[in-house]
Amino acid sequence: MANYKNTNKRGRSDSRKPSGGRSGARMNAKTKKAEKPSKPLQSKAQKTQRAKKPDIPQSSEHNQIIQWYPGHMTKTKRRMEKDLKLVDAVAEIIDARIPVSSRNPDLASLTSGKPRIVLLNKCDMADSRATAKWVEHLNTENVRAIPVDCKSGRGVDKFAPALSALLHDRIESYKAKGMVNPTMRVMIVGIPNVGKSTFINRISKKNKAVSADRPGVTRGNQWFTVAKGFEMLDTPGVLWPKFEDQTVGERLAFTGAVKSDVMDTELLAVRLLDLLRELKTPEFKDRYKLTEDDLTLQSYELLERIARSRGMLISGGEPDTERAAYTLLDEFRAAKLGRITLELP
Ligand code: G4P
Repeated sequence: MANYKNTNKRGRSDSRKPSGGRSGARMNAKTKKAEKPSKPLQSKAQKTQRAKKPDIPQSSEHNQIIQWYPGHMTKTKRRMEKDLKLVDAVAEIIDARIPVSSRNPDLASLTSGKPRIVLLNKCDMADSRATAKWVEHLNTENVRAIPVDCKSGRGVDKFAPALSALLHDRIESYKAKGMVNPTMRVMIVGIPNVGKSTFINRISKKNKAVSADRPGVTRGNQWFTVAKGFEMLDTPGVLWPKFEDQTVGERLAFTGAVKSDVMDTELLAVRLLDLLRELKTPEFKDRYKLTEDDLTLQSYELLERIARSRGMLISGGEPDTERAAYTLLDEFRAAKLGRITLELP
């Protein structure tokens, strides 16, 4: 199969990624942003004041993100409901760094209780002890959780055995009814950017699409073999994140799952520093040459400290906190500040 994302880009790219989308709400958010001066002039005192009161004053912008999805929701939901009828199980991909914020809480009802595999993806960037806790927490009779790193492929080989264990009873009941070699089907679902295409591309490299347009199968759907007796739909279901809680939106922005340019980058960095200051990973401290005393600073002052330690200064020797904020977020997303999980079970 060709690269999934390339195939998809021609048809549905806007429904898949908030970062590349062009919905009305999104455009409004961008236009609104463009009307503002790119960097409002503020005194150091004003900035420090703001840092000391980190109740993020961006609710209207935050609402813009919330409203980004509805246009796609109905269509996506309808398509997913149709596809779900064709499968025996659902594999939900979530981000191991934010297993709560990257899940869609409506999935269980959407899938009407179908057996599920939860793939904790990007575990190369998450704290391995936290991932182990999550695996234990998520495993139930109807759910199997496995940590994976789809970029390198680590853990992906556990998918088929997990599917087999999850569907064991169902397979046996088909066999008892006289079905020889029943084929079980699974569909991939997840919010944008969790790694659905990466996973599908990785699995599909080894296993070519086997059939299309069979009786009972929606026209155009392609399936490929995951293992003997298991097929996977090549089109993932795109779920929408839930933004009701502001911290969810922030965490999705920290990891890059939603584009952060509708939020104030410095404020987002300050919020991230609130967490990093507590976690104190050696990589974070070493990278910005931070002492224990530095970690007691208010988060905005800490951002200033980081700007100085990186030589990011503007005229007059003031720290360039905006540049430092972009750098901090980029380096967090690239796991240069350590393997960090922001949510624990
Ligand atoms: P989606 O279909 O769910 O929207 O996600 P997609 O596969 O496009 O993956 C989103 C980004 O996450 C990609 O990075 C991808 O490489 C990266 N990614 C996916 N799985 C893993 C993983 O297990 N570990 C790590 N570290 N990264 C992963 P990108 O920057 O958008 O593109 P690129 O780096 O592939 O060029």
